[in-house]
Amino acid sequence: MSSVDIPREQWATRVGFIFAAVGSAVGLGNIWRFPFQVGQEGGAGFLLMYLLFIVVIGFPAMLVEFVVGRRTERNPVGALKEIGSGIWEYVGWIFIATGFVILSYYSVVAGWTIRYTILGLQDGYLADAAEAEGQFVTLASGLDAILFHAIFMAAVIAIVAVGIERGIELAVKVMVPAIIIITIGLAIYAATLPGAGEAYSYYLSPEWGVIADNWQSIVPAAAGQAFFTLSLGMGVMITYASYLGEDRNLAEDGAIIIGFDTAIAFITGLIVFPILFTAGVDPADPGAGAIFVSLAAAFGDLTLGWLIGAVFFGTVAIAALSSAISLMEVVVSYIIDERGISRPTAAIGIGGAMFLLGVPSAYDLVLLDLFDLFADQILLVLGGLLLMILVGWSLPDLAVDELQRGIGDLGSLGPAWIWAVRIPVILVLLVALVLGILDYYE
Ligand code: PFF
Ligand code: NA
Repeated sequence: MSSVDIPREQWATRVGFIFAAVGSAVGLGNIWRFPFQVGQEGGAGFLLMYLLFIVVIGFPAMLVEFVVGRRTERNPVGALKEIGSGIWEYVGWIFIATGFVILSYYSVVAGWTIRYTILGLQDGYLADAAEAEGQFVTLASGLDAILFHAIFMAAVIAIVAVGIERGIELAVKVMVPAIIIITIGLAIYAATLPGAGEAYSYYLSPEWGVIADNWQSIVPAAAGQAFFTLSLGMGVMITYASYLGEDRNLAEDGAIIIGFDTAIAFITGLIVFPILFTAGVDPADPGAGAIFVSLAAAFGDLTLGWLIGAVFFGTVAIAALSSAISLMEVVVSYIIDERGISRPTAAIGIGGAMFLLGVPSAYDLVLLDLFDLFADQILLVLGGLLLMILVGWSLPDLAVDELQRGIGDLGSLGPAWIWAVRIPVILVLLVALVLGILDYYE
């Protein structure tokens, strides 16, 4: 059957779309990646740069993806074919490739969160740092890791296979409120810990010297993180907006989505750092696995830490699931639209392939770190950059016209948005890409 014969799916409700986008945005990026980036990049200086990039880069860029998706009602490859010609078609392919790479290792990390939820409930966590580290090495790589990577991927496939309205929309309507409520609860708990004061000042008082000395690493890390956390640069927001039937105010929706994502990342810092400081664990330990080791050791040290830890890791797993479904949906929508393959078959095939691609990361954490760095600092930024150049410089009228549907006449805000895309967004992405490439090959 060809794609024209199948009516395109749609979100049933406005909150359905917003929850799905918030569910995509809020994920491991907020609860796992964000705190370890803050730790690695020296604390509050990174936080400040990140917040700046969210507003100046993230918001205009998200609107670009929204208008492309809603205008074309297509998956990213189809969308780029429709609005761009010649080599621009291939930008959609970068999105698909990025989705593959990210979901492959994202699912491995998500698998750890399931494993660590069970660990807390079953045995509790080990307080001794060296023992916690040893345990992490056992659980996070090899067969254990592969098993939980498989379980997680199966859950993603199950939701995506059902479809937009009854699969993704229904799932996020349960998951997103749960994530928000539990995160706030954990932050209140963390405020009562003895290390909270010290943690807040580490997290919240920027040292200008640190920023000045390290901007070459802070800028690409903060730009990459801003893109990653908002699910930008790989067509998720194009895809999700393509299921919007009616015209609504995309600027308002974007602001709500960004507000939630930023709040959850920020609040996670208010959870993680007090816990680490209270247990006397150094937040600057770099690397993807470190936050698991440090947090697990910290939970091992706290009263009722097994329970708090299980709730924490369980929430991270849910957040990861609501993001992973969006990553898979990008590729699945492409297969459905362009290849006319049924949704369940597409979800199983793509999920299986992504699972296999993740197996090396499940064996070797060094590889996982490399995948993460490559996807986040290079692929995401590259795909995002090209899309911004295309829309900002050659399709400004189409973009403004589409954004106005559901808002009304934008007046001078239209050109302001386009110029934000043309200069600051593109410039920051370009600088981030160059520095990211240098960093990667270092
Ligand atoms: N935004 C998600 C997070 O912060 O965990 C991760 C993510 C999802 C990145 C989807 C990119 C993406 F396309
Ligand atoms: Na995020």
